[in-house]
Amino acid sequence: MACTCFPDGAPVVDSGERYNFAAGPAMLPAAVLAQIQDELPDWRGSGQSMLELPFTGAPFKGLMHEAEQDLRELLAIPSNYRVLFMHGGATCQFGLLPLNLLAPGQSADYLNSGYWAAKAIAEARRHAPLNIIASASEDLRAIPPPEQWRLDPRAGYCHVTSNETANGLQLQHFPELSVPLVADMSSDLLTRPLPVERFGLIYASAQKNLGIAGLCLLIVRDDLLKAPRAGLPSPFSYALQAEQQSRLCTPPTFATYCAALMLRWIRQQGGLEVMARANEHKSQLLYQHIDASDLYQCHQQPADRSAINVCFHLRDPRLLPDFFREAAAAGLLNLQGHAASGGVRASLYNAMPLAGVERLLTLMRDFERRHG
Ligand SMILES: Cc1ncc(COP(=O)(O)O)c(C=O)c1O
Repeated sequence: MACTCFPDGAPVVDSGERYNFAAGPAMLPAAVLAQIQDELPDWRGSGQSMLELPFTGAPFKGLMHEAEQDLRELLAIPSNYRVLFMHGGATCQFGLLPLNLLAPGQSADYLNSGYWAAKAIAEARRHAPLNIIASASEDLRAIPPPEQWRLDPRAGYCHVTSNETANGLQLQHFPELSVPLVADMSSDLLTRPLPVERFGLIYASAQKNLGIAGLCLLIVRDDLLKAPRAGLPSPFSYALQAEQQSRLCTPPTFATYCAALMLRWIRQQGGLEVMARANEHKSQLLYQHIDASDLYQCHQQPADRSAINVCFHLRDPRLLPDFFREAAAAGLLNLQGHAASGGVRASLYNAMPLAGVERLLTLMRDFERRHG
């Protein structure tokens, strides 16, 4: 490993390997990237590229089936739930949820836990009356616990954001509710085991733990599939897409293929218990270091800290440009915090190896020695 220095003495490491800490689109496992590259010209000896495969043919249908079976197995999804592969990201679902799940005039409950919950609320409000069951404090240190949620028993559903990607907060427990629990799991689906039977609907954009952008995965309980409301375009109706096995229109084929590879990779790693242990370990290494440091600080309450997006600040924010510059030189990319929060954000999705976190810790120690 070649090592030279910046003029101020900071090491520049020609590390070879780069670690991408972006919040999404995010790092893919090297094995998955290699498989995509290998299979791109000729998918499984079919003489066709995956990019050219018709969605109506048996090979693509088989691939979708494999992906669904892997997902079902990983999450132990009960048989009364349907899996949908939809276009667009979670932001599309922010508006589609009320249009699919509520009768006209019916209200829904929303937990306001941070940046993405607020986005979901603003969009859903355009389509239905909402009741905010609890809100995180202004400094976004903690998520209000279920005991504080002011639930409306007549609500059509109750919406939560399981992991606040921008704020580094994560819901650790999911209560059993009398109304369907709906969760935006864009940043932590498949990072830990889940009690799927407690949910009416789970949705997630794919570009964090499930491959690339363009696909939104939905897991929805049968009884919530209702005839589409007047005015709802058919491809956005959960019921109509379920009837057509997510092939009512051309599905995002390449993103679905990438999701299939990611699901197989997660299974090969040992499944969700293994993912959860690894993510817990990676994030705790960072949090322990931050808490013991005089330079770094994490203001989220320990019980609600995300195992997936570790957000922290430098006590002197003027040091941030140097921190990012040295990180990039050490092969640690995209550590900038979300625009709304600032600071540093290390996204530790399933594909981030322990070696990436260890290299980040080395940089943090070294940076503190010189600037602390
Ligand atoms: C929790 C959460 N919800 C929703 C979104 C929006 O996803 P998309 O841009 O794919 O619509 C994101 C993106 O980062 C997210 O982290």
